[in-house]
Amino acid sequence: MPHVRSVLEGLWIVFREKAMTQDSVFRQNYPVKGGDFARAGNVSWEIKNLLKELGLSTAVVLRAAIATYEAEMNIIMYALEGRLALSVMPGKILVIVEDSGPGIEDIELAMTEGYSTATPEMRELGFGAGMGLANIKKNTDAFLITSEVGRGTRLELTFLTNGQHR
Ligand SMILES: Nc1ncnc2c1ncn2[C@@H]1O[C@H](COP(=O)(O)OP(=O)(O)OP(=O)(O)O)[C@@H](O)[C@H]1O
Ligand SMILES: [Mg+2]
Repeated sequence: MPHVRSVLEGLWIVFREKAMTQDSVFRQNYPVKGGDFARAGNVSWEIKNLLKELGLSTAVVLRAAIATYEAEMNIIMYALEGRLALSVMPGKILVIVEDSGPGIEDIELAMTEGYSTATPEMRELGFGAGMGLANIKKNTDAFLITSEVGRGTRLELTFLTNGQHR
């Protein structure tokens, strides 16, 4: 029945195109608790493994792992609670990081390499070099940060997956 076959083929093409143009191929939410040093790095570790499983290049997986680790640590170190929302799309990875916490009064200062308000206890654990935000920026293809004092902080991290990182 050639007619039925061509109708089915037509439907398959429409379905496939719709699936391909749909923005997000994969989405996942990862909550992070403030002060939870026992689970430091767990979320970024999970993200790293997932991106590897999805078959993304080692270079982009490493950039995403470094940036999400620093973002995760900043929630643990400074915020009450937060989350990382990962979306993998054709050509890019998007990670939205949001927290409830004190927020950042002077974003430019916070972005300065070496600036840190980490406590002596955190420094003893090896944190507080003041490099996290700068490292996040370096490892992303687009980086947005907004913050409201007394409410929280939001980061938007974009990684291009086609190997075009500067
Ligand atoms: N989510 C956040 N909420 C509140 N303050 C933050 C947050 N993230 C960063 N900050 C502030 O910005 C400063 C700089 O952050 P950054 O991540 O660059 O360095 P750090 O966390 O102090 O040290 P490192 O990341 O090298 O261990 C922090 O010390 C803190 O004062
Ligand atoms: Mg940090």
